[in-house]
Amino acid sequence: MWQGRRVVLGVTGGIAAYKCVLLARDLARRGAQVDVVMSRGAAEFVGAVTFEAMTRRPVRSSLWERNGALDHVVLGQHADLIIVAPATAHFLARAAAGIADDLLTSIVLASTAPILIAPAMNDAMFANPATQSNLRRLGSRGWRSVGPAVGELAEGPSERPGRMAEVEEILAHAARLLHAPSALAGRRIVVTAGPTRESIDPVRVLTNRSSGKMGYRLAEAAWQRGASVTLISGPSSELAPVGVDIVRVETTAQMVSAVRESLAGSDVLIMAAAPADYRPLRPRADKLPRSDGGFALELGATEDILLATAADRPADLIAVGFALETGNAIEKGRDKLQRKQLDMIVVNDALEPGAGFDVDTNAVTILDRRGRAERVPLRSKAAVAEAILDAIEKYRE
Ligand SMILES: Cc1cc2nc3c(=O)[nH]c(=O)nc-3n(C[C@H](O)[C@H](O)[C@H](O)COP(=O)(O)O)c2cc1C
Repeated sequence: MWQGRRVVLGVTGGIAAYKCVLLARDLARRGAQVDVVMSRGAAEFVGAVTFEAMTRRPVRSSLWERNGALDHVVLGQHADLIIVAPATAHFLARAAAGIADDLLTSIVLASTAPILIAPAMNDAMFANPATQSNLRRLGSRGWRSVGPAVGELAEGPSERPGRMAEVEEILAHAARLLHAPSALAGRRIVVTAGPTRESIDPVRVLTNRSSGKMGYRLAEAAWQRGASVTLISGPSSELAPVGVDIVRVETTAQMVSAVRESLAGSDVLIMAAAPADYRPLRPRADKLPRSDGGFALELGATEDILLATAADRPADLIAVGFALETGNAIEKGRDKLQRKQLDMIVVNDALEPGAGFDVDTNAVTILDRRGRAERVPLRSKAAVAEAILDAIEKYRE
């Protein structure tokens, strides 16, 4: 997605300019061709040579430089994406008014490329109606904005937005804008992920080895394709994906309710979670003491999420299940596809090296209700997520 893509990175005069050295580095590392354009203010905070070292390309800062007489038009017209980070209040005001008094404001005025801004400023400057109205004007012209976040500012802690979005977040939004058009753009996708936990007593639980990685990669990839994504996650140490609404649950019963509540208006449901199938029938209110004699735990089945929510599915919802089996995986997967009224099922064999729980890779077979079967050999879970979403796009055609 990034290889050879032309990104203009506008840097304006805010304290956060130093963090954009890392943004420039990460864009270049991903394979983008990064042209940094600095405002006069930016040069007070960071040296052009630092950006040049990161991008291996000359930094532009003046309308009147002789290295490209038409840079003020050409750079923006050839760009696949323009990012302005940090975007100062001053830059937002000039851009909103259509003023083109330096190289960067001229470039954004002359370009039809998507524009992503990461505003960063003192919290009072951000809250000022002038800044808010400028942001609304830019938003109404299709400019995308990421942040600012609430958090530590140069002048100290703040409880109001002002701090620039983290570099990772800016990169994720940039990738979404660069993504090839997808049939999933604008769709609502619900993904479940991770294990669930059932209490034995206040300190002990019954759970499984699911890490949540597969579901998190699916949620990230679906958001990158332009979908709005709700991720219903059991306990997982994975980081919350950028842009995704995350609903955290603990037990299978909570996951059932969360799925039920999210189904209205959804287009796709992907059940990548590994909910606990059993729960202690009588969880204890106090901690069970250790005893040499051991103890017997009586378990009952938890609710089957797919069956329990079948009546809540919109008629045209595409339901995708997962089947983690140990042996005869394809046969068992086909059976589950029918039994649970799924459109598609992703089957993997937990005994296959590199596949299944708590690893970064997976090897799966995607089966659909129309009899199609696609083998996705061992690869990263991120790549498997892309293959699953491709299969969903094809199924929708
Ligand atoms: C130390 C210092 C820090 C500043 N930090 C910010 C900032 O984070 N955000 C902002 O909008 N302006 C900030 N300013 C004000 C801008 O630098 C000023 O508005 C300047 O005219 C911006 O010019 P530019 O948008 O062309 O880069 C800061 C100024 C100083 C002196």
